Amino acid sequence: MAPIGASSARLKGKLKLILCNYKMMRMFTIVAECSRCGEHFSCDKALTVCTKCGGVLLFRYDLAGAAEKISKNILKKRKDTFWKFIELLPLSSSASIVSIGEPYTPILRFSGSTFKNLYVKDDGRLRTGTFKARGMAVAVSKIKELGVKRVAIPSAGNAAAALAAYGAKAGMEIYAFMPKDVPESNLKECVYLGAKVYLVDGLINHAAEIVGRLRGKYGWFDFSTNKQPYRYEGYKAMAFEVAEQFSWDLPDSIFFPTGGGEGIIGLWKGFKELVELGWTRKIPRLIIVQSSGCAPFVKAYGRGESEVRETWKNAQTIAAGLRVPRPYGSYLVLRAIKETKGTAVAVDDEEIVSSMKTFFKKGLYACPEASSTLAALNKLEDEGPFDPDEKILLYLTGNAMKYFDVMTMEKHKISVLRKDAASLT
Ligand SMILES: Cc1ncc(COP(=O)(O)O)c(C=O)c1O
Ligand SMILES: [Zn+2]
Repeated sequence: MAPIGASSARLKGKLKLILCNYKMMRMFTIVAECSRCGEHFSCDKALTVCTKCGGVLLFRYDLAGAAEKISKNILKKRKDTFWKFIELLPLSSSASIVSIGEPYTPILRFSGSTFKNLYVKDDGRLRTGTFKARGMAVAVSKIKELGVKRVAIPSAGNAAAALAAYGAKAGMEIYAFMPKDVPESNLKECVYLGAKVYLVDGLINHAAEIVGRLRGKYGWFDFSTNKQPYRYEGYKAMAFEVAEQFSWDLPDSIFFPTGGGEGIIGLWKGFKELVELGWTRKIPRLIIVQSSGCAPFVKAYGRGESEVRETWKNAQTIAAGLRVPRPYGSYLVLRAIKETKGTAVAVDDEEIVSSMKTFFKKGLYACPEASSTLAALNKLEDEGPFDPDEKILLYLTGNAMKYFDVMTMEKHKISVLRKDAASLT
């Protein structure tokens, strides 16, 4: 038997460690709640959608408790990374973090427009080149904490690449299902990162059906868009970052490219939590942008519908991430637009490419999805009165370098010179 003094010292040490961990990290997740029927689910097992109604699950937090523990001033002293707001994530401790580098991305003033207060936020500088890294950083960290080792994803490309990168770091087995004409960079990234890749002779909705059918048999956790509550928690950081970078004086409106809708739902959720925390008063108008080659949200919004009821036919666009003909949980995106008094805009691929060129010339390598935001702003400006003093943020979700294989040009018009310089005049 150990002497009394030694055991009490050991106990004291243990207690100190517990208190210390508690002090370091008090998390505030309470429950996962169905956004359709309100049913609650415990957060300590891997969650997908509501088992009662198929609705999208969203984590709820004790925000009053969080506001007592953290403040804007405390946050200011922390490092500028996705993990700065860790108390507002569903992780049980910082030990769960799977990291490949998650810095803040810059907000830059965009000059040369009729809008005096026009800004862009450039997520193309993140690891894997798109904002999808945000969702996967948190989702993979949490799913690993819950003991999941094998995951599958149907993806238009960038989400699969981000999952492949974070999953590789976490030592997981990744199964990626993408349309067979996915931009090659996504495909190569997934292959190089060691994911098991399958190309589907169809679109993301067909890939989702395949994952849905096989996940039980192969024991995959299904990382499908809007069919798990984890990825939003990473996208929320976009709202937190934007608020902090604008010194808590938020933009009036944000233009955001939308395909499946996870990005905009996460952004909206983040802003709502900031209001509940008492740190901001308003939520920016959320203006979602789609390609006219696949615009189910714009169509449903225009008709005043509360969800997307039809599958978009012959979906085609250079903005691969916007090619989602039948988004799951579409009611949440339409709710976000309505509640924030936003709108939904469709732009043509030609307008997207022209905006890409404008961005390039300003030193911003915005991908087609990201470039759609500038095209949408131009369109809204042409269509009606827009306050030129309005503070507007165009959210640049990804880097154009990932799209060089799908960007077209008239190569035959480029001169090929003979190699002997002496023959040239
Ligand atoms: C670069 C980029 N921007 C925007 C989107 C649309 O995001 P969401 O599907 O969350 O609406 C995607 C989707 O893949 C994307 O890759
Ligand atoms: Zn439900």
